[in-house]
Amino acid sequence: MGKRTEFLFLNEEEMIEAGVLDSARCVDVLDEMFQLLGKGDYIMGGPNHNEHGIKLGFPKDPQFPNMPADGPDRRFMAMVAYLGGRFNIAGEKWYGSNIINPSRGLPRSVLMVMLNDVDTCEPVALMSGNLVSAVRTGSVPGVGVRYLARKDSKIVGLIGAGPIQKACLQGIMVDAKQVEEIRIFDLNSETAKSFGDWAKEQYGVNYVVCESIEDAISIADIISSATSRLRPVNIQNEWLKKGSLIMFTGAGLIDEPYYTSCKLYFDNAKMHAAYMDDARRSAGPLEAAYQGMMGGQIYSLIDAGKLPAIDKIPSLGDCACGTIKGRESDDERICLMTSGMPIEDVAWSYDCYLRAKEMGLGTTLKLWESPHWS
Ligand SMILES: NC(=O)c1ccc[n+]([C@@H]2O[C@H](COP(=O)([O-])OP(=O)(O)OC[C@H]3O[C@@H](n4cnc5c(N)ncnc54)[C@H](O)[C@@H]3O)[C@@H](O)[C@H]2O)c1
Repeated sequence: MGKRTEFLFLNEEEMIEAGVLDSARCVDVLDEMFQLLGKGDYIMGGPNHNEHGIKLGFPKDPQFPNMPADGPDRRFMAMVAYLGGRFNIAGEKWYGSNIINPSRGLPRSVLMVMLNDVDTCEPVALMSGNLVSAVRTGSVPGVGVRYLARKDSKIVGLIGAGPIQKACLQGIMVDAKQVEEIRIFDLNSETAKSFGDWAKEQYGVNYVVCESIEDAISIADIISSATSRLRPVNIQNEWLKKGSLIMFTGAGLIDEPYYTSCKLYFDNAKMHAAYMDDARRSAGPLEAAYQGMMGGQIYSLIDAGKLPAIDKIPSLGDCACGTIKGRESDDERICLMTSGMPIEDVAWSYDCYLRAKEMGLGTTLKLWESPHWS
């Protein structure tokens, strides 16, 4: 007789009850995760152990009747990781994204997270991943503020006012206790306004709907850019004031003099090195491959010798575990380029799972009474 295996299934409502929306806790959990990243106590996919994930993309002109065609933000993605420390768990976030989904009453991307015992490999939990992913994404800028923002930051500038930006503001506001004004630019001013109403209700701060990116960010101390790729975000060096911190969660470009004069951090430089390797291996011109990547502009500057080699650019994990300093003066301009890591999903989903278990939430599912072939 073999071993019975069961695991916990958590739907979105149960995840909410378990506290998945609690950004203050998530920023602390991700800070802990960044410390493990800085020490090297993690493994992500691929031969370099630092891959963001594996993308399943579709061809422009499919040759088969049912095969989907490529489209904006159309993909499936598998993101796998092991995280050490008290987590000591392996997991995967698996999602699909289709821009038509909102017209069907669905979010653009639909995400699930699976956690597995690292020793027996049995499933531990399967859960709704949309809020795990959104809140962990927004908590990375929260950790960014902790190490890289001026402590007296008063104005937050936001480029894009979608759901991910909402999570980013939640993360930012955890440690930014002196914020008085939020300045918002979105291509859709109605979206910006309803975001502002929500922010005012949540944090009791004033908001301004701005007419341009420049208007939103030029007097801001903390800037968060989280847009989809509807229109490129082009930022000029002189729009970023002394002492500012700009954090990218979605794609955006700043002109070259900014990057060569700011202090630049990645979420994980080793993952960005893996992106650069992927681009070098891809068919077609390197520049075209870089253009599809969030950090592509920075990679080009590295290749051109205008920025230090990628392994000389610090990561947020180095700040979290104290091997590299974060902000050192009130004047320096800092940029944090992030692109999301499966260790973030594993950290936050595991923390939520533990609380769900404590609270008796979820449905226990049986994988087998005894494995049929063992
Ligand atoms: N780094 C990560 O870990 C991570 C994780 C999840 C999502 N993301 C990225 O975050 C971004 C935002 O996600 P979302 O789900 O909120 O997207 P969304 O499409 O729901 O919302 C994006 C908002 O940005 C606005 N926008 C688009 N281009 C703009 C521009 N040039 N200037 C101003 N506003 C603009 C849109 O009008 C929209 O309101 C996406 O690029 C997504 O890929 C990153």
